[in-house]
Amino acid sequence: MGTTSFFVSLLLSTLLLHLCLSHGVAAARPPAGGKISPRVLKFYPVIQEFKTRITSDPTGILKTWNPNDKNVCNYKGFFCDLFPTDNLTTVAGVDFNGFGFAGKDGKLPLSGFIEKLTDITTFHANSNNFTDIPWQISTIPYFFELDLSNNKLSGQFPTQVFGAKQLTFLDLRYNALNGAVPPQVFLLDVDVFFINDNYFEQKLPDNLGSTPAIYVTFANNKFTGEIPRSIGRSKNLQEVLLLNNKLTGCLPFEIGYLQNATVFDASFNYLTGPIPQSFQCLYSIEVLNLARNNFYGSIPDAICKHPNLQSLDLSNNYFTEVGPECRKLIATKVVNTTKNCIKDLPNQRTKAECAAFFSKPHKCANEKFLTQIPCNPAHRPANIEPSATLVSYGALTPHK
Ligand SMILES: *[C@@H]1O[C@H](CO)[C@@H](O)[C@H](O)[C@H]1NC(C)=O
Ligand SMILES: *[C@@H]1O[C@H](CO)[C@@H](O)[C@H](O)[C@H]1NC(C)=O
Ligand SMILES: *[C@@H]1O[C@H](CO)[C@@H](O)[C@H](O)[C@H]1NC(C)=O
Ligand SMILES: *[C@@H]1O[C@H](CO)[C@@H](O)[C@H](O)[C@H]1NC(C)=O
Repeated sequence: MGTTSFFVSLLLSTLLLHLCLSHGVAAARPPAGGKISPRVLKFYPVIQEFKTRITSDPTGILKTWNPNDKNVCNYKGFFCDLFPTDNLTTVAGVDFNGFGFAGKDGKLPLSGFIEKLTDITTFHANSNNFTDIPWQISTIPYFFELDLSNNKLSGQFPTQVFGAKQLTFLDLRYNALNGAVPPQVFLLDVDVFFINDNYFEQKLPDNLGSTPAIYVTFANNKFTGEIPRSIGRSKNLQEVLLLNNKLTGCLPFEIGYLQNATVFDASFNYLTGPIPQSFQCLYSIEVLNLARNNFYGSIPDAICKHPNLQSLDLSNNYFTEVGPECRKLIATKVVNTTKNCIKDLPNQRTKAECAAFFSKPHKCANEKFLTQIPCNPAHRPANIEPSATLVSYGALTPHK
């Protein structure tokens, strides 16, 4: 196997493993000829030292980290493969998912450990009590995936990750991070970026659209302000979860540029305005959730013609009109218009609730763009393949 193919195949296999949100430890390779590779030997003291810091091992992992066995490829949680430049066996990845490791006072620093595992490509540690990320992770040359979801990270966004330029997968969901998300986040060359279920507040940076990511989850934080208009530039975006924040303002019409988006969920926010006509360009959309906001106006009927639409939840808003295509899908329960202000439909808000809402003025800053259609519906690509699996909703649970 050549250098590139080794790493690409490792990357792809771990990414797939990860995207399925499954877990498991890849089988370790026995050392060639019974001799332990010098690369593997180098990590033996690192791992034994780290072991002394772990005071909580509820799943009984540490007994496999036998100090009499210097071949750490036999230890649970580590997997070995050939290092590309010299074909020597080395510790290529870490999978501590679900191990529940904790240290003194329930905390466990990652500093002094991860950066010494200089050959790793992946570090997956969902559901442990790791508390920090060291600056030196930037010195690990082939580091592709960092999963510290459901750990004990706190304070501001860990800007240490900006040094890890090769990262393609960054999962920091279910921690206690707060403050702002720095704009450099969207310059990371990642495919997957999960930060849901933290305490982030303040605005989403205006350069959100610079992200090359495919899957992003901002859900269940306290983000405020408007959805940045630049979102329309993030051409790779397939799934974006913004639900349950404190977002305000109207939907930017630029969302209509996301012609590969399969999931857009901005439910449970304080968004308002009509649905931009540009949403008829979301050709690939499968799940569109705008429930529990303050949207109003007429539901663009063309949205209900999207071929792969599985769910359009518009419940708990103030929509007043719905066309024939969408009515067909209300009947089949694809579209949910419960608790709106649509006069001839059942289960709507009371007249008084609707009257109270419409007695106040409602206006969007981008009003003149709301009717803009940045695609030619006559040229819709034929046969848009539905995605095999939706990925990001799986990130809304803490465990894997
Ligand atoms: C590593 O091994 C593969 C085949 O096993 C070979 O093609 C490649 O040239 C080797 N690389 C090095 C640096 O020895
Ligand atoms: C690890 O964190 C969890 C969640 O806060 C906590 O319940 C647990 O006690 C911690 N583990 C230890 C051993 O302190
Ligand atoms: C959608 O994805 C395809 C291939 O995955 C790509 O060629 C195309 O440019 C994307 N379209 C948009 C509008 O980004
Ligand atoms: C529609 O939304 C309402 C409010 O969230 C919910 O109670 C109801 O079960 C939904 N109906 C369908 C058919 O999904």
